[in-house]
Amino acid sequence: MCGIVGAVASRDITPVLLDGLRRLEYRGYDSAGLAVVNQDDEIDARRAVGRVAALEEIVNGVNGHLGIAHTRWATHGRPAEHNAHPQLSSTDVAVVHNGIIENHQELREQQLAAGYTFTSETDTEVIVHQIDSHMKAGADLLSAVQKTVDELKGAYGLGVISRHAPNTLVAARRGSPLLIGLGEAENFVASDMSALIPVARKYMVLEDGDIACVKQDSVQIFDQNHKPIERKVLVSTLSDAETELEGYAHFMKKEIHEQTRAITETLEGRLGANTVLEIPLGKNAKEIFDATKEIKIVACGTSYNAACVARYWFEEFGVRCDVEIASEYRYRKHVVNPGTLFVTISQSGETLDTMAALDMAKGLGYTNTLCVCNAPESSLVRASDLTIFTHAGREIGVASTKAFTTQLVTLMLLALCLRRRALGLDYDGDEVEHEIVQELRSLPNQIEHALSLEDEIIAMSKHFADKHHSLFLGRGMHFPIAVEGALKLKEISYIHAEAYAAGELKHGPLALVDKDMPVVAVAPNDELLEKLKSNLEEVRARGGQLFVFADAHSGIVSDNDTMVLNVAPVNNHIAPIIYTIPLQLLSYHVALIKGTDIDKPRNLAKSVTVE
Ligand code: M6R
Repeated sequence: MCGIVGAVASRDITPVLLDGLRRLEYRGYDSAGLAVVNQDDEIDARRAVGRVAALEEIVNGVNGHLGIAHTRWATHGRPAEHNAHPQLSSTDVAVVHNGIIENHQELREQQLAAGYTFTSETDTEVIVHQIDSHMKAGADLLSAVQKTVDELKGAYGLGVISRHAPNTLVAARRGSPLLIGLGEAENFVASDMSALIPVARKYMVLEDGDIACVKQDSVQIFDQNHKPIERKVLVSTLSDAETELEGYAHFMKKEIHEQTRAITETLEGRLGANTVLEIPLGKNAKEIFDATKEIKIVACGTSYNAACVARYWFEEFGVRCDVEIASEYRYRKHVVNPGTLFVTISQSGETLDTMAALDMAKGLGYTNTLCVCNAPESSLVRASDLTIFTHAGREIGVASTKAFTTQLVTLMLLALCLRRRALGLDYDGDEVEHEIVQELRSLPNQIEHALSLEDEIIAMSKHFADKHHSLFLGRGMHFPIAVEGALKLKEISYIHAEAYAAGELKHGPLALVDKDMPVVAVAPNDELLEKLKSNLEEVRARGGQLFVFADAHSGIVSDNDTMVLNVAPVNNHIAPIIYTIPLQLLSYHVALIKGTDIDKPRNLAKSVTVE
């Protein structure tokens, strides 16, 4: 999704801007651009469709001490050079913008009447003209931005420069993350601290409504009432180590294989001999768990799928649990029972729909808010009463892999803590908890075993590469695992993949089954295995091709119509985590054969910061 970098320094900042854009590439984008104020106090801007590499080819000779840069993920106006940012108002002002301006049409009409001409279809262009009009009426850059944001409806993170203020970078934020990086006699602006890893460790997070006036040796911040305000200086812990491919062809493959280590880190320090420890989950964790009678989970995409698996655990453990997609949750009325914990799940901690749902939930009477998150320096973490970190390490591939399995592990820890309260157990838990804790400890080994199936999965993937549609089946807590498997396949191989609870097959989707529709099934050895086998017979009877990830003792065997991949027996509670791995590998290898852009699939973004 869109990314912003800005810099003001005594050195030439073009290389800093380009490096920052490269570091934001993982968020997903379709065009890129930058603008600097050069030594003649003129704005020099370049924009290119496609990768940052395309921009690099056209920035020769672009030098300056002040500049802004952007990666754009199209919302208003197709990906095209004229729609890329920075957007300019004549040669005077340049703006980069993340977010969506809702009243852009109204402003556009006023500006057309005032004689402005438009060169793009973006909602952003009205911002730059509005700032320009205030400057033409006598305002300095900072006041012009202050006046402009008061006239905007919608969400924005902004970086603004003007040739009339050659030492000043103005940044503004409402609903779209933005932070100020503090260097040595140079300062920066970015939508994500990872853009600034080589140039700044210290940073300040802008809050909604803040506007910052950033110069080489000073940063002044003003709140939504335009009153000066101090924001805390934080120290970033991000490093470059996780942004290297380390010999892997793709980040997705690397991240799939990192799951052994990632899950070890999720569990690190959180397990006693037989139980889940609560203190390492957060200093207010016990108090929040004590106050919790039921939970509501809200999330998007893969994180939502993790919530759907966890619901089975919570309810089996006696804790009422409701799960909802964030973009739906935020647009309906709610009845909140006393003692309900509002839980968000997000890899990035920046997903706008999830963040907006949390903002809304805060006024609805939930007892507390908890976030399951992978990004320590993110908006959701800052806004939640308690965060349980997944410790997956940075995930670069757009398709979530290790983020998902570590979310599942974290949710199991939470479920076991709430189980004690629901069942009135003491801190030593009970046999069920003891058994699950031992299973959690064995997860890294079991994941290694699942990863060792890769060669067989490569053979299986060849059957999918020429297909246009596929069905994924599962039952019980493996239905959301089938949904996640289908999401992975469609996301990176562009094959249409639909997931069904296997019992639903006969209520409609069976009509689709023929030899051209591969049917993938997840078949652990649980209480629903026999039911699932009957569902698979329904597929076989209609000439369907089955690809089954089955427990080695399931009794499901390969034949002409069925390809079975045996998964080592695993405890039912943690089986969803293990069965995820072969599905991830399957989608990876299908995409590899199809030659798609695996780490940056078309039309998608890593961090979805627009509605
Ligand atoms: O950062 P989040 O976990 O909040 O992101 C939510 C979804 O955008 C994300 O899981 C998306 O569905 C993934 N690309 C799926 O692989």
